[in-house]
Amino acid sequence: MTSSWRTNSYGVQVEDTRICVVMVGLPARGKSLIAQKVVRYLGWLSITAKTFNVGQYRRTATPNPSAEFFDQSNSEGERLRRAAAEAAVNDMIRWFEAGQGLIAILDATNSTKARRRWIQEKCEAANIETMFVESKCDDEELVMSNIRDVKTTSPDYVGQDPEEAAQDFRNRIRNYEKVYQTIDEDEADLTYCKLINVGHKVIINRIRDYLQSRVVYYLMNLHIRPRSIWLSRHGESEFNLSGQIGGDADLSPRGQLYARALPDLVRKSAGDLPLTVWTSTLKRTGQTARFLPFEKLSWKALDELDSGVCDSLTYAEIEQKYPADFKSRDDDKYNYRYLGGESYRDVVIRLEPIIMELERSENILIVTHQAVLRCIYAYFMGMNQEQSPWMEVPLHCLIKLTPRAYGTVEDRLHANIPAVSTWRGKGSKAKHQTKEEAEEEEAAKTKEKADESEKTEEVVHTNGGNGT
Ligand code: ATP
Ligand code: F6P
Repeated sequence: MTSSWRTNSYGVQVEDTRICVVMVGLPARGKSLIAQKVVRYLGWLSITAKTFNVGQYRRTATPNPSAEFFDQSNSEGERLRRAAAEAAVNDMIRWFEAGQGLIAILDATNSTKARRRWIQEKCEAANIETMFVESKCDDEELVMSNIRDVKTTSPDYVGQDPEEAAQDFRNRIRNYEKVYQTIDEDEADLTYCKLINVGHKVIINRIRDYLQSRVVYYLMNLHIRPRSIWLSRHGESEFNLSGQIGGDADLSPRGQLYARALPDLVRKSAGDLPLTVWTSTLKRTGQTARFLPFEKLSWKALDELDSGVCDSLTYAEIEQKYPADFKSRDDDKYNYRYLGGESYRDVVIRLEPIIMELERSENILIVTHQAVLRCIYAYFMGMNQEQSPWMEVPLHCLIKLTPRAYGTVEDRLHANIPAVSTWRGKGSKAKHQTKEEAEEEEAAKTKEKADESEKTEEVVHTNGGNGT
């Protein structure tokens, strides 16, 4: 364990552990998907993590191997695969040494005990903890559907017939099966988590610290059944009309129209799928959801970002009463905490149980608030936390997010009911500025500056002329 200290995303000083999460398992068992989700989840919590995918290293030397390349008796194949693993591990160690992050994920099959022991010893020598995550799956049908879904379109098979690619990938797996050793008792000194048949059974061993247990808890909540998540802000509120933030106002007449239109909008997007609706505890979300014919649950954790002493003020009033705070917020909107209130970072932390619950759930419709919705959206879309507080989420719009193998597909459906804009550009104290207006303003300013500098250039030129 290294001995430096840093502040974690909870604002607490923690001893800085460096963990290498080592994926284990036959091909097409969801290892890359799991790795990518863990990186996204940790990134959302401001814990820097990075995947080192051995396949990508192997591809530089052998871009389109056939199944035979992965046969253990193919000595040249063995040599190249070993070289790829070494290059990935060495890069990972350098990444840790450069102090770039806390968690690395070594994404490869790591399917033999010898390979795992080698990784564990390399990491130990570099003061890095290892945590092995094995995905074991003997559902042949699921594996075949994984192959068709993601493997036939892999860069390994560019330009090849999908059926032939699927057959070759199946043969590749057979070659791995010949040497595969699942993690078992004689590796009891290792820290590991075995996920069997997508979490139907989970075995954990020697999970020791906070970060490891966070990751394990997260993994235990994952499922791959098809589903979508719908996000909507509440309908336009009386406070939105007056430009006031926070509060617990009722819907405006147009907001009430949105509430009436929402069941149809949802039907258009979700068909007959059974949904559960989650709202905050504030009146405007309950009023928006009230005509939806589904089970409803209200969560305090979904309440709008608490704006503390600025609650119920307009942006112009905040700028006038607390000018330094107004500026600080624009300078670092993600971290700025309202006096007596919250920051976006605080909201992310209180939303973590919501994200866990969402991962476990099927189809959920969340009716919530601008800042909260931005945070949830940022999790699913892997959005940079500096940008997420500036994201535009219009009122009267239903967002559908559908998780897929390596990402999330987004669909936006607008209700044809006008509403004010509550988006605010950096530096602006306008009541209802739209993003387009802000962009036009910005473009005009840039043009003005360019005209100015042209003028200056003219002057310089003229001066030069006069000098001769
Ligand atoms: P490879 O070793 O070739 O890189 P992989 O194990 O990394 O394969 P992925 O590329 O992540 O496999 O496969 C993604 C597919 O696996 C997706 O279709 C996803 O639905 C499915 N999947 C995700 N998690 C699991 C799991 N725990 N068990 C089996 N399949 C899973
Ligand atoms: O204006 C609507 C609102 O939901 C406020 O209640 C909240 O303070 C604000 O949006 C959050 O948006 P921003 O972080 O851009 O100020």
